[in-house]
Amino acid sequence: MIINKLGKNIGILIIIVALIAMGILSASAAPEKIIIGTSADWPPFEWIDANNNFVGFDMDLMKIIAKIQGYEIEIQDIGFDSLIPALQSDRIDLMAAGATLTEERLEVADASNTYWSGSQGVMVTEESELNIATALIGGKSVGAQRGTTQADWLEENLVQADVNIKLELYETNDLGIMDLVNGRIDVFVADTPAAEAFVKNNPIKIVGTINTEEEYVFYVQKGDPKEILPVINEGLAKVQQSPIWDNLVNAYFMGDLNKISDCYAEFGDLLDKDLEAFAHNLSKCMMAD
Ligand code: ARG
Repeated sequence: MIINKLGKNIGILIIIVALIAMGILSASAAPEKIIIGTSADWPPFEWIDANNNFVGFDMDLMKIIAKIQGYEIEIQDIGFDSLIPALQSDRIDLMAAGATLTEERLEVADASNTYWSGSQGVMVTEESELNIATALIGGKSVGAQRGTTQADWLEENLVQADVNIKLELYETNDLGIMDLVNGRIDVFVADTPAAEAFVKNNPIKIVGTINTEEEYVFYVQKGDPKEILPVINEGLAKVQQSPIWDNLVNAYFMGDLNKISDCYAEFGDLLDKDLEAFAHNLSKCMMAD
């Protein structure tokens, strides 16, 4: 009897193993670990705080969605223009970098649902007399981060149209902002949410906007071979339907970004224990007077 039953179970086991081997049965599609690439030079979406934490709206979204959906993440800081190549060469599984949805990128990568939007802010130094028109003509040196939509916009609409600007491309936004502050370039262009963060902490101002109305997405490899997109989109929807979303928005878009290191030191541990409490406390801490 016992031997018989055992034999039957082993028989079933063999069939199941065969089905798995044939790819007819598969374990849960959700990946166990996702390697995320970012360009951590872009507050309020991604930067590195005084204690070496990846912080920002994208970074917290990625950490929170991973917890909700049950997988591990590893975050790598890579130059923005190397992120799509890193996806293509399988160095990273996902790009979280305030990346705009574009036709060109969709040819080589797949995109999640959109989660934010912005246009392009044109920045000059506080004492500069340039305005949105004079900033973009007349022999001015104009900077942008390499590989971004603003670099493309300046190239396509000004350089290729023979408008007399000198386009300076930077590996990171930090380097571009530094050159603007030091007077090495006249103008720097970055997405409006980031530009608004940069002007708060530097002697620079926004003189106008290029109304490109861009949608931000997370990119994965073309064809999504690791089946990441459904997991991300579902997680994103769950966050958006919870109080976590508004608290993250408040923390990073209304709060004082200079408080991030202190607030993260105090509440960052909650990311492992209680996501709603984390977002609630973070927004309270960042928005405190
Ligand atoms: N939205 C722009 C783009 O997709 C710029 C993004 C820059 N992001 C960053 N983390 N530096 O090209």
